[in-house]
Amino acid sequence: MQADIATAAQPGQSVESGSPESAKLAQSIGVPCEIFPGEKRVATVPEVVAKLIKLGFTVAVQSGAGAAANISDADYQAAGASIVADASQLWSTADIVFKVRPPTADEVALMREGGTLISFIWPAQNPELMQLLTAKKTTVLAIDALPRTLSRAQKMDALTSQAGVAGYRAVIEAANAFGRFFNGQITAAGKVPPAKVFIAGAGVAGLAAIGTAAGLGAIVRANDTRAEVADQVVSLGGEFVKVDYEEEGSGGGGYAKVMSEGFQQAQREMYAKQAKEVDIIITTALIPGKPAPKLITAEMVRSMKPGSVIVDMAAEQGGNCELTEPGHSVVKHGVTIVGFTDLVSRLAMQSSTLYATNLFRLSEELCKTKDGVINVNMEDDAIRGLTVTKDGAITWPAPAPKQAPAPAAAKPAAAPAAKKAHGHGEASAPMAGSKLAIVFGVAAALFWLIGANAPKEFMSHFTVFVLACFVGYMVVWNVKPALHTPLMSVTNAISSIIAIGALVQISPIADALDRPNSLITWVAAAGIVLTAINMFGGFAVTQRMLAMFRK
Ligand code: NAI
Repeated sequence: MQADIATAAQPGQSVESGSPESAKLAQSIGVPCEIFPGEKRVATVPEVVAKLIKLGFTVAVQSGAGAAANISDADYQAAGASIVADASQLWSTADIVFKVRPPTADEVALMREGGTLISFIWPAQNPELMQLLTAKKTTVLAIDALPRTLSRAQKMDALTSQAGVAGYRAVIEAANAFGRFFNGQITAAGKVPPAKVFIAGAGVAGLAAIGTAAGLGAIVRANDTRAEVADQVVSLGGEFVKVDYEEEGSGGGGYAKVMSEGFQQAQREMYAKQAKEVDIIITTALIPGKPAPKLITAEMVRSMKPGSVIVDMAAEQGGNCELTEPGHSVVKHGVTIVGFTDLVSRLAMQSSTLYATNLFRLSEELCKTKDGVINVNMEDDAIRGLTVTKDGAITWPAPAPKQAPAPAAAKPAAAPAAKKAHGHGEASAPMAGSKLAIVFGVAAALFWLIGANAPKEFMSHFTVFVLACFVGYMVVWNVKPALHTPLMSVTNAISSIIAIGALVQISPIADALDRPNSLITWVAAAGIVLTAINMFGGFAVTQRMLAMFRK
């Protein structure tokens, strides 16, 4: 049973509950209501409450904290949390506060001295808040400061989980404002062309939007300054549209950099062309710490077809479209421009659940001993990156992580090389001409030697073998790697050509009937049955695998 925080602890003390020793040590987690206008998320959900209690913590939730996300106080209570009536009691008694939005000055004033806060903070944008938090001698873990390139930090990456929700919702908002189907249809009432969607920026939110729009049946195109995302765009069902200008757009760590004026000009021309062709534009372009790049000009909006839609996900940072009005959906020149800044809140239950899980994963890292006491280990790269104040001292920005970054950063560099190695003749490009001549010379001499000395029958078999190797090589190397598994299963099916051998042995049937006990006949019959399974099974499996690639 959990103690009610409202009655159990004094500021600075741990909550008392049933068994004396563990209860003395166990820290309390407090979850207040979010007071930012329009914010519907909550920092934890009942499923996660139960898991936090298993980690040894006690959990208190402010009454009504989950109401906007359709989670009642009773749901929290059923999961083992206690309900606290008012914010001041909750803030002043909790050892650790879980929150979504950065706290206001009033909320910080309620916080108990030396307490811990885990929340979005945006320390670069909120220097005054950082001062208030240090004055209270707090330890603050800013979920937005997580080193995202550490692969083991991905489970705690709330920026990613929330942007994924926003990307999905952006497509739903576009579909709501658009007057047609997304997918093409041929019906008795006429033919409907599929909607064309262009996504500017293929980061987390952009990729989620590409997947959602493609899933609804639209033709999806996308562009990003980081060429490394092209493969991801394609794998989600989109087409990557390149800017006709050579410049590397990666600023490191999976983020973009500001591009040269020449690139921007070429990009504007490409976007202007897309604006005339597509029905929906979703913009997600962002460079951290910079105002949103203006990619869609008023002129481009004017050139769009009437009834088109723009969803500007960067509205909060000033917008990627010149005509966006942050927080509003407006119609300009016949185009609906959606500038909502609360896309994540519009799916509050989903985003709260994902956020709560991110915080739970972080709690596991902070409380490896599972005794309900956190250890903010500054030697741990992920925890160090997150910690923006420790016992009242500012520890932000953190030094770059010591640990090797996640493959995300390494992949892009490796990808083009890997592509080249996949053939089209360039695979051997690095081999110098002289070396190639030597290899060919040695091979020719070897063939001559074999040809001069080997028996005739061998040579005919050998020629077939060499040709088979060549054809096999060309088939495998010219098929997309993603299709290698279906290719293998179909080759497996074709290998059942050995059925012919078995048929030769078994025929003529009359013979077989004459000598029904002949061992060869029965072995051949078994061979035919087995190879038939291989043949038909192989084709069936290939069919099923190819079906997965078709929409
Ligand atoms: P991200 O950093 O993962 O992706 C941004 C992408 O934009 C990167 O791939 C970057 O290479 C690309 N980019 C930067 N400059 C560009 C340019 N000039 N042209 C083309 N591409 C460019 O960011 P994330 O998490 O995907 O967020 C995207 C946007 O969505 C941000 O503005 C973010 O604030 C916003 N967002 C909005 C929400 C809402 O409720 N309205 C919620 C979550 C995110």
